[in-house]
Amino acid sequence: MLKAAFIHIVLLLVFISASGLGNNNTTTAAAIDVCFYVEGDASPVRKTFANSTGVRKFITERHVKVEIHDQPLTKVHKYSFTGMRHVQELIIWDCGVIDVEAGAFQGSLSLRKLDLRGNYLERISTGIFNHLNVIDLNLSYNKVKTIETEAFNPMIFLKKIDLSSNLISNYSPSWFGRKHFLRELHFENNSIGSLPENAFSNVIDTEFALTDIFFSFNTISNIHPETFKGWSRRNAYQKIPH
Ligand SMILES: *[C@@H]1O[C@H](CO)[C@@H](O)[C@H](O)[C@H]1NC(C)=O
Ligand SMILES: *[C@@H]1O[C@H](CO)[C@@H](O)[C@H](O)[C@H]1NC(C)=O
Ligand SMILES: *[C@@H]1O[C@H](CO)[C@@H](O)[C@H](O)[C@H]1NC(C)=O
Ligand SMILES: *[C@@H]1O[C@H](CO)[C@@H](O)[C@H](O)[C@H]1NC(C)=O
Ligand SMILES: *[C@@H]1O[C@H](CO)[C@@H](O)[C@H](O)[C@H]1NC(C)=O
Repeated sequence: MLKAAFIHIVLLLVFISASGLGNNNTTTAAAIDVCFYVEGDASPVRKTFANSTGVRKFITERHVKVEIHDQPLTKVHKYSFTGMRHVQELIIWDCGVIDVEAGAFQGSLSLRKLDLRGNYLERISTGIFNHLNVIDLNLSYNKVKTIETEAFNPMIFLKKIDLSSNLISNYSPSWFGRKHFLRELHFENNSIGSLPENAFSNVIDTEFALTDIFFSFNTISNIHPETFKGWSRRNAYQKIPH
């Protein structure tokens, strides 16, 4: 009886440590399945790679969308996706990505949509997203706590950014640097406690009021009197906090 229970516990421990290794040790990472889509064709070509560094070599100019879903990909290496000239949409979701190397998407000139939702990113460093032509960037359901200054500057085509359901505690306009004119800014379900002075003047179009700002499900208790500096009456109603 006692012996059986003991074996049970040992097996459980072995299982836990083995899964721990598989998830975060890139040298022992399991194979990954990648879907490649051709324009106008809804059914992807699937291919299995030993690691993400092989993906780039397989992509041709016919591939407009690349999707990796629920695969053991802890790290997005610099040379996995750089220079994909024709890919418009790259989706890497629910893959357990902890780290994206700076320059990983560099030279992907046609990339309009970049979706990294549902991973384990904790830090958004400068050098990952800067200078991309992306319109729609989804970083929701990660573990983001830290965003480096100017992490999204410049991204001159950016219209939508989704950082909802992360662990962000301070919003800073410095992430965006200069003027951006976003359409949607999502920060729902974080731990943001206050909004600083002049928080959004570099991301909203103050004249035409086209920006929707979402900060519900945070813990905002302190809004600086000049948070909405420069906003006209027309956009003063915005969807600010609960
Ligand atoms: C993997 O992560 C787990 C939990 O964070 C940790 O306990 C374990 O030591 C890590 N393993 C390796 C090989 O880094
Ligand atoms: C990853 O696993 C391999 C083989 O089990 C081991 O030799 C290596 O030290 C591990 N790397 C890290 C960073 O833990
Ligand atoms: C990636 O896989 C290829 C084989 O497809 C192998 O030659 C290469 O060493 C692997 N790279 C890493 C970083 O594990
Ligand atoms: C980002 O992804 C989440 C999760 O799938 C989705 O609910 C959300 O609508 C996406 N955000 C945008 C701005 O499209
Ligand atoms: C809010 O974020 C947490 C992680 O920070 C997540 O587990 C939870 O599902 C999110 N809630 C909703 C309603 O999306």
